[in-house]
Amino acid sequence: MSALLEVEGLVKHYHVRGGGGLFGAPVVLKAVDGVSFAIPAGRTLGLVGESGCGKSTTARLVLGTLARDDGQVMFDGEPVGSVRDARWRSQRRAMQMVYQDPLSALDRRLTVGKQVMEPALVHGLGAAAERHEKALSIMDAVGLSSRFFDRYPHELSGGQRQRVVLARALILSPKLLVCDEPISALDVSIQAQVINLLVDLQEKFSLTYLFISHDLKVVRQVAHEVAVMYLGRVVERGDPEALFHAPAHPYTQALVGAIPTPRTRGRARAALQGDPPSPINTPPGCSFHPRCPRAEARCRSEAPLLRPLDDGRFAACHFPVLSTPAREAA
Ligand SMILES: Nc1ncnc2c1ncn2[C@@H]1O[C@H](COP(=O)(O)OP(=O)(O)O)[C@@H](O)[C@H]1O
Ligand code: SF4
Ligand SMILES: [Mg+2]
Repeated sequence: MSALLEVEGLVKHYHVRGGGGLFGAPVVLKAVDGVSFAIPAGRTLGLVGESGCGKSTTARLVLGTLARDDGQVMFDGEPVGSVRDARWRSQRRAMQMVYQDPLSALDRRLTVGKQVMEPALVHGLGAAAERHEKALSIMDAVGLSSRFFDRYPHELSGGQRQRVVLARALILSPKLLVCDEPISALDVSIQAQVINLLVDLQEKFSLTYLFISHDLKVVRQVAHEVAVMYLGRVVERGDPEALFHAPAHPYTQALVGAIPTPRTRGRARAALQGDPPSPINTPPGCSFHPRCPRAEARCRSEAPLLRPLDDGRFAACHFPVLSTPAREAA
């Protein structure tokens, strides 16, 4: 299966002021620090990790809306640049973004119909009547009846607004959707509907997804492969069920352990030790070592590389957990 998106060694560092306020010495914040992955056409890669680990920055680097310090992005066999030339614009049409908060992604003053047609107008696609027809058919595909065409965003529920955002993306017939926490701002009761819709749309329009979430449980429902990020790096990558039932990296293990199960009656089973991570002045060696229950001397000096394990997974750990499944079937 050929990859639609190939990302190799992405790096984004920011120079920010240190602890001394406005006049503090500049320090390096490693938002993304060497991220690589590939997504075959028609598949979903779930990118998961705590807030601040670099997921949204990765998304922006992939789309070329943020200049990278290093690394390469190949989309459909062509390099993605960050120069806004004609090639970039046509690539951007084929790579659409779905954000967390549908209300801020929409214009409160424009009707749903106008907003769904707008991207096609901006890209000069079709005549007015064709855009109108296409908008109605895309709205239908995302579960919005034509009666919503003349409504305004504030008249819609959160779930309906996210459907409008999806329709705006789909009217451009993209190949890749980058979904950055697409259900996090929605009521729990409608999150599953939007997840199911995304799965249906993938099938219907042969879409490829980069699906970003801080929630491994959500990612497990949609992803064909999962990449777990910690402090700007991918620390484990592989099949979602393998990751969920027998995580190899201690950080993945902690993420899985933090998911409440019926048996724990809503309580997390294992909390992460230590302080929340800071991408400024990351610890030497393995950056997870201050929180890792398996850390040994080697972990404090030598950074582990992402290496293949016997079962086809990849983990960046000197002492991956390879034994008994860490979690009972949920
Ligand atoms: N423009 C910026 N300037 C400085 N730091 C930034 C900037 N954008 C993001 N960061 C930092 O980079 C890190 C990764 O951010 P982000 O990619 O938004 O994480 P996530 O989406 O996983 O929550 C965070 O520590 C964030 O504060
Ligand atoms: S390399 Fe060491 S510190 Fe890092 S995750 Fe593995 S065991 Fe823990
Ligand atoms: Mg984010």
